[in-house]
Amino acid sequence: MCGIVAYIGPREAYPVIMKGLKRLEYRGYDSAGVALLDKHNLRVFKKQGRVAVLEESIIGEDLHAHAGIGHTRWATHGEPSDRNAHPHLSASGRLAMIHNGIIENYAQLKTELTKKGYHFKSDTDTEVLLNFIEDIQENNQCSLEESLRIALKRVTGAYVIVLLDRNHPDTLIAARKGSPLVIGIGKGEHFLASDASPIIEYTKEVVYVNDYELAIIKCDELILKNLGNEKITPFVQKLDLELTAIEKGGYDHFMLKEIFEQPDTIFDCLRGRLDAAKGTITMAGVQNNLDKLSQAKRIIMVACGTSWHAGLIAEYIFEEICRIPVEVEYASEFRYRNPVIHPGDVIIAISQSGETADTIVAIEKAKEQGAFIFGVVNVVGSSIARISDAGAYTHAGPEIGVASTKAFTAQLVVLILIALKIAHEKQTLSDERYMMLLSELHAIPEKVKELLHSSRHIRKLAEKYKGVSDALYLGRGNNFPVALEGALKLKEISYIHAEGYPAAEMKHGPIALVDEQLPVVFAAPKSVYHEKLISNIQEIKARKGMVLAVISEGDDVIAKMADDIMTVPLTDELISPLLSVIPLQLFACYLGMAKGFDVDKPRNLAKSVTVE
Ligand code: AGP
Ligand code: GLU
Repeated sequence: MCGIVAYIGPREAYPVIMKGLKRLEYRGYDSAGVALLDKHNLRVFKKQGRVAVLEESIIGEDLHAHAGIGHTRWATHGEPSDRNAHPHLSASGRLAMIHNGIIENYAQLKTELTKKGYHFKSDTDTEVLLNFIEDIQENNQCSLEESLRIALKRVTGAYVIVLLDRNHPDTLIAARKGSPLVIGIGKGEHFLASDASPIIEYTKEVVYVNDYELAIIKCDELILKNLGNEKITPFVQKLDLELTAIEKGGYDHFMLKEIFEQPDTIFDCLRGRLDAAKGTITMAGVQNNLDKLSQAKRIIMVACGTSWHAGLIAEYIFEEICRIPVEVEYASEFRYRNPVIHPGDVIIAISQSGETADTIVAIEKAKEQGAFIFGVVNVVGSSIARISDAGAYTHAGPEIGVASTKAFTAQLVVLILIALKIAHEKQTLSDERYMMLLSELHAIPEKVKELLHSSRHIRKLAEKYKGVSDALYLGRGNNFPVALEGALKLKEISYIHAEGYPAAEMKHGPIALVDEQLPVVFAAPKSVYHEKLISNIQEIKARKGMVLAVISEGDDVIAKMADDIMTVPLTDELISPLLSVIPLQLFACYLGMAKGFDVDKPRNLAKSVTVE
């Protein structure tokens, strides 16, 4: 995720670009930059931090230009810094480029270019791609457009790129695969952006560029081509969304948008890592430390809140397939205890923000006692990413909603990949089940997309139950933490008191709460516990409790018993939380919306708890 804006036309490019970047900061805010080209004078200004920081830092500079490109970054390769900020300049200084996405084979391209004598000013995959493009152009003595076509045929990953060429100040060149690009058609001018929010005030006529398309843009000309150099007729559409709606992708709230992004974010998290056909999992941070991880005497998961729930689910998975004892600790408790850490212990620190104070201090305490720290973090270059000995990013993109949704499922994906890699290394998992799990994991993005089709039904359930004052969430096995997460979402978003419990624990006290006023939500996808869950539901029904159940497709038994159901596609029990949590996210979000609350900024909460 990141924000890109570009302009070519009679206006001053700089103000158009900067205003547009501010509209796109919800897509990423690690750094910001702008390249301006006037006649043959190409200037690049870029700075770590928000767009306003960049703006402040270049007051007084020569910002005159009628063509320019701008970028607000969400880092994937190379931590947030001035030098890793976009736009990047090519080795010759002739080309400037911005990029949204991930170049998966950048390391291979970088090796090839380094052997040719190229040096790199940044750690980004973007700079590698830019020099790869320039290298092709110089070796083939061809146009920039042609060299781009040749280069993109070798690139794997996702990109939107926009290029400025100092020798052709009247032209912008852009290309797209897997990341969004909108072109605004003005009168003698063109606007490019990641979404329409920077464009809508200038024109409502837009072209949505498709994958594998290139755009060659002048003030009064837009040419679209495919990688085969065939012209494509641009399909011009009229924008009908309001500005605020565009920033939220047409959704009423960022939280809702982020729930619906999960097919893509899970796909992005798997991208370049899982090859189910070959049976391979590629994760440098794991591969380089596979001995430590697979020979660990104990794994301690340390986290807070939703991330702690991810650790609880991982406990079931790691113990089942890696046969390594796992403990899951609230970071806030772990840091104040005097924990016993043995050499050979591995700490897995899980954090979306990478800045949670309790988790940071817990890690530092464990490090003092010689533990190896593996970070599972969403924000590249964050504190936890930096103090960990190794790690894996979740690549969920910026999570704006305070309640964590897409970052949670991305954490689960990374943890499952790590467990599978360790289990395969230790041979504690049969090859057959290993391959089957890889195949099931590969299918998850499509299954999430499928289950999201039932969102209208879940919204109706939220309306039906919005008057309740309490709720119980129950689950068994690795769906018990899903019950905890569902309860937390409801608390956070709708301010209804909810508790998560192991379903079997009901008889040890909580069942006294059950009456006809109390909804009991079961996270009950297909599992070995099915018969036990049926008994638990019967216990609730016998006491007139209302039962809502998340069930797998085809579960007619629980479907008949429950008052209401939310259905998810079938998948392997080990990874079923990836699906069963999503209806509970939607239920909480829609219920908060039904009660008229700001689900993106719930009362009393902050997105990142950087204080004790
Ligand atoms: C989740 O919905 C909450 N916003 C909160 O519990 C969060 O998970 C917790 O504060 C941990 O944050 P982190 O993942 O950024 O470390
Ligand atoms: N992969 C590029 C980087 O890390 C682009 C990230 C983005 O989309 O902002 O700089």
